[in-house]
Amino acid sequence: MNGWVCCTASPSLALLKYWGKLEGGDNLPATPSLAVTLGGLSTRTWVRAGGADSVTIDGEPQEPDRYSRFFNCVRAALGVAAGFEARSTNSFPTAAGLASSSSGFAALAGACALAAGKEMPAAETSALARAGSVSAARSVFGGFVLLPAGARSAVPVHDRAYWPELRVVVAITQQGRKPVSSRDGMARTAATSPFFPQWVAQSQSLLPEALAALKERDLEKLGDVARASFSMMHATALAARPSLLYWIPETVAVMDACRELREQGVGAWETIDAGPQVKILCHASDVDRVVRRVVERVPQVHTLTCFPGDGITITAGEEPPA
Ligand code: PMV
Repeated sequence: MNGWVCCTASPSLALLKYWGKLEGGDNLPATPSLAVTLGGLSTRTWVRAGGADSVTIDGEPQEPDRYSRFFNCVRAALGVAAGFEARSTNSFPTAAGLASSSSGFAALAGACALAAGKEMPAAETSALARAGSVSAARSVFGGFVLLPAGARSAVPVHDRAYWPELRVVVAITQQGRKPVSSRDGMARTAATSPFFPQWVAQSQSLLPEALAALKERDLEKLGDVARASFSMMHATALAARPSLLYWIPETVAVMDACRELREQGVGAWETIDAGPQVKILCHASDVDRVVRRVVERVPQVHTLTCFPGDGITITAGEEPPA
């Protein structure tokens, strides 16, 4: 059990958002979420079994408390006693609302199982990843992925080849850590926002609409329902006490650029997670126009273009970073 193993995963971008946990402490989502795994962005995580638990991300040692529950779940699920040493690198800014925890815990769950020499079905890896971060349950799978409310594991809906022309332009409006983590933000929202019960009910009713849009590969319908989901999520968070606002002026300016594009007949539908970045759904043939307009409106924005990507993969034969 002494060698390093490595898994790669990509972030899961929710088109329908998870925001809030079920009571009971099992890290189960209160809302269904439907996501696309973002090819073009990746987390690589090296793990070896033995010694005390430790995690570094891009060379920075992480708070052990954030990981202790996760590693205990891993040991219980795998039936091992060993600690895990993990080194992770992201190809994109960490903890800035680009869902690095989704790819991070998915890669970590896969790599821990591998390091312990256990073969696990993907659904079990997904359940394990969820113990670290709910959205990570989705990143285990590629393409389009559903995590039903209350579910232990995500389920793949369509693989990445299903909609190869779909693109997500990520507009990075600000680098650096977000002020309130999604974990704390959603706990505060569930505990104090008077709109939380409505948010949970509405999320459930958006699901058939989103699944139908995906089935028809209808980007306009999918973009519209995705906008409804993130708007309701942020409205619910805004009504928490104290209020939660993840947006900065540049976030709103990018949203405005999307509205202008739609008014001119260019399909560009934005979605926003727990941070200031904006992710824009569009067709591959519109990427240049979308990027040009966003950068014209907000020159300091940095953009990345993603596409439906793979779930976790085992990366062979590379040494971990120092
Ligand atoms: O799984 P977490 O704790 O990283 O929370 C994810 C929350 C959102 O990104 C805002 C929504 C989602 O479903 O990914």
